[in-house]
Amino acid sequence: MARKPETDAATGVATTGHEWDGIRELDNPMPSWWLYTFYASIAFALIWMVFYPALPFVRGLLGNTARGDLAAVMATEQAKAAPMLARLRAATPEAISADPELRAYALAGGRIAFANSCAGCHGAGGQGAPGGFPSLADDDWLYGGSFEDIRTTIRHGVRNGEDAEARGTAMPAFLQAGLNMAQISDLADHVLSLASTGPANPAGAALFTDNCAACHGDRGEGNRAVGAPRLNDRIWLYGGDKPSVMRSIAYSRAGVMPAWEGRLDAAVINMLTVYVHALGGGEQ
Ligand code: HEC
Ligand code: HEC
Repeated sequence: MARKPETDAATGVATTGHEWDGIRELDNPMPSWWLYTFYASIAFALIWMVFYPALPFVRGLLGNTARGDLAAVMATEQAKAAPMLARLRAATPEAISADPELRAYALAGGRIAFANSCAGCHGAGGQGAPGGFPSLADDDWLYGGSFEDIRTTIRHGVRNGEDAEARGTAMPAFLQAGLNMAQISDLADHVLSLASTGPANPAGAALFTDNCAACHGDRGEGNRAVGAPRLNDRIWLYGGDKPSVMRSIAYSRAGVMPAWEGRLDAAVINMLTVYVHALGGGEQ
């Protein structure tokens, strides 16, 4: 209950006039150190609000933003990396691979660039994925495994319709190109016999010579100039069971890979080339 303020007899300090069950509250002033700190913090907050972003949609006089801080850090880091990137841009992948310092840098950078741009299709370690995404870690190459072959594939991609120099020819869909399902079944038997995973099929062999050997070779050895895969091994882009092989022949497949020139810096393409070459199947 509120009472009239009065002076406390024991301390000589005025009371606030509040009393609870006989206990009265003294009206001591705030300690001055506390009070001045309090005022100082108010002043600090006001100054802060003028110069730094504190209110929604207001940037403050210094124009400071977290994004701006990041840009400054990025600019410093890019400036540090620039000389190395310039060297990686100017050198051929072959020369990069021969220089221990550049090679170490390219392998580290290539690993990260691969995880960003390539792993989604080719697998985290370049091991490939079912559905036409070839392993880049073996020595079975569609287009070749030399530094220059790999770099050309990365720069221009495959059948992407966006790059005039893209790799890849079109295999006809033989069900539309005049063969019937019985002939396609014979052909699939012959293809599997080339890979030693099926019985010989003379009718299929004859059809193969007429329709397929021009691209895949007489014995299915493949042809890098047209990107026709080797058929006489057990490495399959689209599956090596008979239904999958029949599907490849009847409807054809045509895997697509984007072109990376223009999307990635030339230094990054060179690093990727060195990285892929070092995955296991690199050729001289
Ligand atoms: C959208 C999926 C996709 C992405 C992303 C992709 N690729 Fe490919 N890549 C393919 C396909 C599909 C083929 C096989 C094309 C064919 O069947 O002829 C291929 C083929 C290749 C080949 C040729 C392999 C050979 O046997 O000659 C290389 C090298 C390659 N890719 C590297 C890369 C690199 C490096 C990246 C990342 C910068 C990348 N690819 C990103 C789908 C992709
Ligand atoms: C114009 C060239 C060309 C001709 C002709 C051709 N192919 Fe192909 N074939 C290709 C190419 C290129 C690919 C790869 C397609 C891809 O990567 O998507 C391929 C892929 C295949 C595959 C899938 C291989 C795998 O690893 O999964 C099979 C099977 C195949 N061809 C069989 C045949 C048979 C059988 C014939 C004849 C009836 C034939 N091809 C005729 C170019 C050709």
